[in-house]
Amino acid sequence: MRKAIIITGICVIILMVAWLQFYHNSAPGDPRGTAYAGSAACVKCHSGIYNSYVHTAHYMASAPGNGNTVHGNFAKGFNVFDINKTQKAVMEKLDSGLFQTYYQNGKVKERHRFDIVFGAVKGETYLYWQGNKLFQLPLSYFSAQHQWSTSPGLGSNFMDYPQARSIGIRCMECHTSYINYLPGKAQELSGTEEFDKTSLIYSIDCERCHGPGAQHADFQSSNPQVKTARFITGYKSLTRSQKLDMCAVCHSGKPEVMLRSSFEFVPGDTFAKFKLPDFVKKIDTTQLDVHGNQVQLLQSSKCYINSSMDCSTCHNVHQNSRGESALYTQKCLSCHNSPNHTYCKMAGQLSAVVLKRNCISCHMPALTTKAISVQVAGKMAPVNFFVHTHRIAIYPQQAKTIMAHVN
Ligand code: HEC
Ligand code: HEC
Ligand code: HEC
Ligand code: HEC
Ligand code: HEC
Ligand code: HEC
Ligand code: HEC
Repeated sequence: MRKAIIITGICVIILMVAWLQFYHNSAPGDPRGTAYAGSAACVKCHSGIYNSYVHTAHYMASAPGNGNTVHGNFAKGFNVFDINKTQKAVMEKLDSGLFQTYYQNGKVKERHRFDIVFGAVKGETYLYWQGNKLFQLPLSYFSAQHQWSTSPGLGSNFMDYPQARSIGIRCMECHTSYINYLPGKAQELSGTEEFDKTSLIYSIDCERCHGPGAQHADFQSSNPQVKTARFITGYKSLTRSQKLDMCAVCHSGKPEVMLRSSFEFVPGDTFAKFKLPDFVKKIDTTQLDVHGNQVQLLQSSKCYINSSMDCSTCHNVHQNSRGESALYTQKCLSCHNSPNHTYCKMAGQLSAVVLKRNCISCHMPALTTKAISVQVAGKMAPVNFFVHTHRIAIYPQQAKTIMAHVN
């Protein structure tokens, strides 16, 4: 009898442990803590926004590497990057995944997996895990040329990988929604941080911009009759500078040292408090690169200074509007309409068609960024990325070129 009780007891304990284990695995929770619900929890009520958001660059800012997310060509004849006579890199599709392999005199020297993809617009760059550390693969993909290229900032001599480029917390802060790093000091940008792999949240997700939403989702679920939002910061309630700061987190340049991790930023915070006072003061708008500094560039424009515009005046971030210059022209015309005295001085010399489509090619021209240049297979000179400048102004040179081509 006693034996039976003991055995039953043991069985109950085993079952409980198994159940707890199962429960734990099936509901791991959001790595950022219980205040966060994860994007999947928002779909139920905001499906329209979610379904268009998945086509945006923010959604594709980071993803696990696989056949759907890596766009470079793995076919024979397109998958080899010659470094010199004795060395080459080969992109390989193996049973266990996608790899970059470096050969020296025909022998495999190193082989690394495409673990993580960053980017989907101008280019893709790839990271791989080595223990708890992240490194950038030496070859990236350059979309405009449909070609493999060297990773930005890397010369043609990349056999000394992986020491060349370890990936630190700063990259992750702007290109993912979260990753927990060890030992846990945001101030350090040694680039050799160790990470907790299991805590990685890909994409710039809903709560990365809107802040923690678990309480909001719970409240609205239990109170479906309430049609107004509770427990989530409304964009309209923010001041202009708080609105800009929501974007400045990632669109105002790259400080090497931060006082706090930008993962902690929520709407309503002041981003300057995350940076060293130095970094905030140091900005010289005449020296800014067009890449990644949209906030300061916009702030140096007469449009910004003389109106109350913010980023959402022109961008609906839940939608992919890339290349829709007619749509952006409408945004310009919402302030610069013809009866208004601030209409384009060139209007008389331009056809209506050109005007309608081209405000931005003359006033926000795509300029080369010095921040990103890459080496494309078979080309000696490095190739630069083009980025639209956010300093809205008069660029006589660009205007002349456009006039010569289109009128
Ligand atoms: C059970 C339904 C429900 C869920 C789940 C839900 N929301 Fe909402 N949300 C609402 C309602 C209702 C509103 C108010 C009407 C509106 O703006 O659409 C709202 C409004 C908002 C607003 C605008 C707030 C404002 O004042 O302008 C944001 C931002 C938002 N939700 C984000 C989220 C995020 C992020 C998630 C996922 C973590 C989420 N919601 C999950 C129902 C929900
Ligand atoms: C957590 C970082 C982060 C925040 C916050 C953020 N962005 Fe971005 N944004 C990025 C990154 C990274 C990219 C480039 C993604 C890529 O191409 O892989 C990007 C790309 C963009 C693009 C280009 C889209 C395209 O299709 O080429 C626009 C426009 C943009 N962001 C606007 C905004 C605005 C407006 C805000 C504020 C409401 C904002 N972003 C907030 C990180 C962020
Ligand atoms: C301060 C935020 C920030 C940091 C730090 C940062 N990036 Fe970015 N990155 C951006 C933004 C914003 C864009 C896109 C907007 C633009 O072109 O200016 C971008 C664009 C890119 C792109 C091109 C994506 C595309 O779709 O074309 C790649 C690749 C990239 N970053 C990789 C990296 C890597 C690797 C690191 C770390 C070494 C890094 N970034 C650090 C904000 C950041
Ligand atoms: C890059 C930052 C960013 C991301 C990512 C983002 N939002 Fe927004 N969201 C904004 C901004 C900025 C506004 C304010 C737009 C305005 O009022 O012009 C906004 C507005 C909203 C609103 C209220 C107004 C409206 O447009 O209907 C809801 C609801 C919302 N977002 C939900 C979501 C959900 C759900 C997701 C994820 C699927 C998401 N957002 C992803 C920045 C973001
Ligand atoms: C929210 C309103 C608003 C929007 C939207 C807007 N602007 Fe402006 N812009 C202004 C104001 C105000 C001025 C200052 C003009 C003045 O005071 O006469 C200005 C000035 C300018 C100037 C003169 C700049 C200089 O340095 O002399 C140009 C060019 C210009 N805008 C082009 C554009 C273009 C192109 C767009 C669309 C991409 C645009 N603006 C969108 C409000 C706006
Ligand atoms: C006056 C309108 C206007 C405002 C305001 C504006 N943008 Fe843009 N933005 C544009 C246009 C136009 C493009 C080029 C779009 C294209 O060709 O697809 C663009 C492109 C971008 C890109 C992609 C850059 C590239 O060329 O690859 C980013 C990132 C971006 N904007 C971020 C921001 C941020 C952050 C803010 C707020 C600080 C902002 N924008 C405010 C009009 C605007
Ligand atoms: C072919 C190039 C080109 C196109 C396209 C173009 N602009 Fe201009 N714009 C110019 C040049 C050049 C000037 C300066 C002319 C001068 O000062 O004599 C100018 C001046 C302006 C000014 C300043 C006017 C003032 O009173 O100082 C505004 C505002 C402006 N443009 C808005 C626009 C808008 C809005 C569009 C699209 C509907 C547009 N432009 C399309 C080249 C262009």
